[in-house]
Amino acid sequence: MAALMRGIIGRCCGGPSTSAGGLHHHDQPINQPAVGYPTSAPLTFVLNGQTVEVADPDPKILVVDWLRQEGGYTGTKRSCAEGGCGACTIMIQELSQDGKTWKKGLPINSCLTPLVSLGGCKVTTVEGVGTEEEGYHPIQKKMADCNASQCGMCTPGFVVNMYALLQENPKPTAEEVERRFDGNLCRCTGYRPILDAFHSLATTDIEDLAGAPCATRGERGAGAATLPACAGGCAKGGSCKKAGGGEAAGIDAARARREAGGVTFYRSGDNSTTWAQPSTLAQLCDLMSSSSSPYEIVASNTGIRGVKKYYDNAAWGGDDAGTAAAPSETLLINISRIQELNFVQQNSNGVELGCLTTLRDAIEALADSGGVKGAALSAHIAKVASQQVRAAATIGGNLSLHIKYPAFPSDVATILAGAGASATLVDPETKKESSVAVEDLKSVEGLVLKSVVIPLGSPADKFFTDRVALRHQNAHAIVNAAFGLDLDPAGGTIRGARIFFGGVSAAGVVRAPKTEAILIGKSPSADGLMGQALSALSQEVVPDDGRQKQYKSSLIQSLFYKFLLGLQPQLSPQLASAAAGFDRPVSTGLVDYKGAQDPNEFPVSENMPKVEALTNTSGETLYVDDLPEYRSSLHCAFVLARTGPCSSFQLDFDDAIAAAGFVCHVDASSLSSSGLQNAVSPSGEPLFAPAKSGVAYVGQRLAMVVCDTEANALEAARAVKVSYGPVTRDPVLTIEDAIAAKSFYNSKAEAFSKGDAPSALSSSAVKFSGVAECGHQHHFYLEQQTAVAARSSDGIKLAVSTQGPGLIAAMVSSTLGVPKTQVEVVQGFAGGAYGGKSSKSVPCALAAAVGTHFCGGRPVKCKMEINDNLAMLGSRRPHRLEYQVGCTEEGKINAIVATLYYQQGAYLDFGDMGGLDVLQMSLDGVYNCENWQLSGFECKTDTPGNTFCRGPVFLPGTFLIESVLDHVAHQVGREAEEVKSLNLYKKGDVSLAGQTLADSNARATFDLCVSNADFGDRAKEVEDFNAKNALVKRGLAICPSKYMMNPCTGFPSLVSVQEDASVLIQHTGCEIGQGLNTKAVQTAALELGVACDAIKCAATSSRIAKTGNVTGGSTTSEAICASTVLACQEIARRMAPVKQANPDAKWADLVSKCYSQGIDLAARAVYDGSQRQPGVLPDQQDNGPSPYVQYGCAAVEVQVDVLTGETQVLRVDLVQDNGISLNTAVDVGQIQGSFIMGLGYMLTEEFVWDRTGKRTGSAGSNVSNGTWEYKPMSSLDIPIEFNVTLLPKSVNSHGVLGSKSVGEPPLILSAGVVSAVRKAVQAFRRQQGGGKEKEFCAISAPATVEKVQLATGLNLQDLTLVGRGLSPVR
Ligand SMILES: Cc1cc2nc3c(=O)[nH]c(=O)nc-3n(C[C@H](O)[C@H](O)[C@H](O)COP(=O)(O)OP(=O)(O)OC[C@H]3O[C@@H](n4cnc5c(N)ncnc54)[C@H](O)[C@@H]3O)c2cc1C
Ligand code: FES
Ligand code: FES
Repeated sequence: MAALMRGIIGRCCGGPSTSAGGLHHHDQPINQPAVGYPTSAPLTFVLNGQTVEVADPDPKILVVDWLRQEGGYTGTKRSCAEGGCGACTIMIQELSQDGKTWKKGLPINSCLTPLVSLGGCKVTTVEGVGTEEEGYHPIQKKMADCNASQCGMCTPGFVVNMYALLQENPKPTAEEVERRFDGNLCRCTGYRPILDAFHSLATTDIEDLAGAPCATRGERGAGAATLPACAGGCAKGGSCKKAGGGEAAGIDAARARREAGGVTFYRSGDNSTTWAQPSTLAQLCDLMSSSSSPYEIVASNTGIRGVKKYYDNAAWGGDDAGTAAAPSETLLINISRIQELNFVQQNSNGVELGCLTTLRDAIEALADSGGVKGAALSAHIAKVASQQVRAAATIGGNLSLHIKYPAFPSDVATILAGAGASATLVDPETKKESSVAVEDLKSVEGLVLKSVVIPLGSPADKFFTDRVALRHQNAHAIVNAAFGLDLDPAGGTIRGARIFFGGVSAAGVVRAPKTEAILIGKSPSADGLMGQALSALSQEVVPDDGRQKQYKSSLIQSLFYKFLLGLQPQLSPQLASAAAGFDRPVSTGLVDYKGAQDPNEFPVSENMPKVEALTNTSGETLYVDDLPEYRSSLHCAFVLARTGPCSSFQLDFDDAIAAAGFVCHVDASSLSSSGLQNAVSPSGEPLFAPAKSGVAYVGQRLAMVVCDTEANALEAARAVKVSYGPVTRDPVLTIEDAIAAKSFYNSKAEAFSKGDAPSALSSSAVKFSGVAECGHQHHFYLEQQTAVAARSSDGIKLAVSTQGPGLIAAMVSSTLGVPKTQVEVVQGFAGGAYGGKSSKSVPCALAAAVGTHFCGGRPVKCKMEINDNLAMLGSRRPHRLEYQVGCTEEGKINAIVATLYYQQGAYLDFGDMGGLDVLQMSLDGVYNCENWQLSGFECKTDTPGNTFCRGPVFLPGTFLIESVLDHVAHQVGREAEEVKSLNLYKKGDVSLAGQTLADSNARATFDLCVSNADFGDRAKEVEDFNAKNALVKRGLAICPSKYMMNPCTGFPSLVSVQEDASVLIQHTGCEIGQGLNTKAVQTAALELGVACDAIKCAATSSRIAKTGNVTGGSTTSEAICASTVLACQEIARRMAPVKQANPDAKWADLVSKCYSQGIDLAARAVYDGSQRQPGVLPDQQDNGPSPYVQYGCAAVEVQVDVLTGETQVLRVDLVQDNGISLNTAVDVGQIQGSFIMGLGYMLTEEFVWDRTGKRTGSAGSNVSNGTWEYKPMSSLDIPIEFNVTLLPKSVNSHGVLGSKSVGEPPLILSAGVVSAVRKAVQAFRRQQGGGKEKEFCAISAPATVEKVQLATGLNLQDLTLVGRGLSPVR
């Protein structure tokens, strides 16, 4: 890496270009012809302390792509490429006013930033923060120490964001740290260890942290959290980053650039795009008025890149996407250097923000402006997007984007309209300015939005804004609102009112003049005013028909109601919390792991950081896309169906063939005519849909295109025209659709029974029926599916991000018709998988392999864009349980008669694994019911074939049975925790799947959890809180779990002691972030008696892995450890005579002596269950090793805002039975991370299907196929207090070294959050009365804001009467 980094210092070439390179900086005359703008100067900027020149920068290239492809800086990760995840975060600095130094650093998304906008800036990537060679920064060390990185894909982004924070403020408060990471997603860790690491830095004296490390001064490896300031004078001289020696030229260039003025032009190599960067408004006007080609104004590009596609059918990929003729020449006019547009000023009219004011600067300026309005606007903008987006995104860009795409629910547009702001526009032809109220602004076409002027009003005025979104941060609003009242300072009557809503109409922001009129002349607390106003509002502001109409109607009123509540002079205490909103404190968490350690086994069971922890933090861990590219590499992209299901289709490749860099195309017919197999799984899913068979689902692969670059491949794939045959049916998208259409794989229901459920049901004292449902979940690995294939001297070699290299090799072998010996698949480190890279990594790998086959053996890479990845590949299977339950009056369950539906999608994933036979293992949860009758239907839908996802079967199973138990409790009128305790399995009971629970820890985990959580006292506190708060309710629930683990056999491990005494482990599992390598290293260290740092794990290869060696099901770590134990024991056996002869010899001497005697110190072993060594390898049972059970329990407390449906998880106490943990740091990380992944499934991760095609242009498509709509948990969604305890003194005689698996089991405990939400909702229903409280709250997962609010049964007409029996509210 370091060599590559040095390689870019100096002159670089930014992408393919046909124009002459090495031009000098010169200013162009303004009146250029529209076509044929000359390329300007080389692009100069400072990168990680060194000045860089890019001779012919391509305006189409984004910074992230340039860094990774041209710059050699692969530490900056590209995941979503739409601003939604933060993996690509870099720090950027502009030249200070004096032209000598740099301004403070800002974190930005390099995936939203065009390379050409970097001119004159300083950029710091994660490599500039710290590397192995340069020394790691304390931020990186702290993250490693705190186990704050698992798969590592998100980690560099967190590091750089924290680094930028410390640059800005070396002593941030805990609140500042906590709120900093709204733009960084992590799918693995659950954020707790990341926040812990950063909080500990914030409380340390970190004044010196902001500087880059200086390895030559000897800090490398220092454990201290601080680095001494650089005194200069080290041997590195001018190349030292810290001394800034390499920056001087960059500073000069930046200054020269600023002073020169003029217009800078850059032109793409294919001449299709020109970037023009004027320095003045006059130059901008001239460019706009003289351009004969289409042009687009670009401010910071965040909206153009990250948002526009979601509101633009063609860009989204609608039917016309492939056929829309792209303009032959596009002019991008970047306004970011025009100082006349970048200002903030305040005068008697209010605050004027130049259009280039970033959201970040607007927050500060408005907060400083004084007054209620400024403060409210500032606080609202702070909730827009993320730190990284706000640092770049402009006010003008946001407003213009909304004007162009009014369905985009812009917060800025709504609150500016509410504030009575006006926009200043410049007509480029006349250069005249005009002013128009923001609410009346209908077009900015052909105009420049120069500024917005926000009147601040008088101190007596009232101004309030609000927004509700699917997730607490970095999520677009479902509804946003702004309300302003102009009050008579003397009498307090309303003289003027402004009521605005966004998100409710595709036509843009909506005003409520009739409701405003009702308010005028009255006091906000006038009798009856609230009722009248709400009633008028409900008739006046009606959301568009369609999805969320009911919820949005409700929000419109409840947000306005909140505003009015806040104006009441004598607000009853019961309502104060509803008006105030929730102020989330800094989150914390305790971990108690000591009881699960065995010091006799150390380093096994030690709290040891992962072996890759540091390289993860510096971006030096290499993922498939980071590997150096082969010479002559090609890239492929899929053509995906945009219509379906339909009976046939035709492909027209003409435009793709004509596209830049085209090499070849492949579809089902090319495969069959070449004798290649067309299947991604044995169950019949084709790699490419055959034209005559038609399309099974929107997103299905129809073909692929191979081109010279990734970008060209994507463009060529989009240029393929598809003509679709008749649509065969309205798309069947959900289980309900499948039931209605009787669309099942099995014509007859699967059946299972235990005892005599029908009789037990009929004789039960209490009988009832219900339905429980839970949905899809995207795996949402941050590393999208990626594979590279290339011809090798002995066949074909692939690097694939996968959980099963052996499986991939088998599929490549059968597809290409070559023996498996000619295929090698290697897997180094995957950037997350969660089950999504087992069968679902096959299509990408086959595409690369097939591409190589058709391109004469040239290397071909297949890397998916997030939208295609999520649209094409399946997810977690949804489930629906229709049940009848019979129980005693105390809630002891006698019988369950149920029908289970589970959604497989359009194809079965490797057969129909996950059916009723498997679900039996989880459907009983931890509850003993003697009588079951189950039938099951596998639903066939017109959606991608679903697959396993972390905790498959057990997550839905646990959620469904917990829902049943909650229902039992409701029905018998007892607390759910009592009923759950009553039904708990005891030692010796037999589970639904027929397993005797010989050593059940169900009771032990349950009791410890109850006591850790202080459940009894807190339940009373919750009751008390609910009595005192009318519209904010709390719920405290308990969720015990049982997770049945299969024996961990069959994964070979090859251990070789090298001549230098270091040890290499080549195992057959895949390191996907779960710490497998670390546990293997610890086990080998224990067995061989050597230090951990002498041992390394190699990449996994299909050459030793079997087809069935698919890492998953949580047990691979144990399987690898077991095989490693055996291999090490074999090595120890061979070394024994030498050791006997040399009892005092050290390890290195022994190895050397063995080598000199020709003793083979490489051993391959596989634990197959026949080997037994008490205390180390699991006991052998009569018929092989025994499955065992992982128990857990979580107590979850939530707070629900009845008015909006927003849920805050206040506290979670989790107890997990981990046996003797193999590594407590890794295992606690797995617990925290998987629980939070489950929390997302339970609360926010919702799939939305576009049935009509109105939104996306494709009926049947998945709207939730990107970060804009799909919302995994972020750092402010996690429990405010999250305590984890490993059950002490649990030794698993069926597990390796007494351990139990941990990767998936804690995830299922997240079902408890829905139980807690149900309790909160039920508390509100009880308070309100009226009959709704008698219904069970059968809320399904995910319990989104929408579902929760609607479940409360809040009657909007009753709003003024809320709190009946409490102090009345007028
Ligand atoms: C991940 C993410 C999350 C977001 N979340 C939110 C959110 O929660 N709420 C919200 O309101 N917004 C949200 N946004 C939108 C964000 O605020 C806008 O993308 C941003 O403000 C646009 O500013 P920009 O400078 O990047 O504009 P650009 O992307 O450069 O331009 C956007 C559009 O405005 C035009 N334009 C720009 N400046 C002018 C001008 N001066 N005159 C005329 N036309 C102009 C451009 O031609 C283009 O059409 C989010 C964006 C992202 C990427
Ligand atoms: S890759 Fe840039 S934000 Fe996701
Ligand atoms: S470690 Fe954060 S996404 Fe994997």
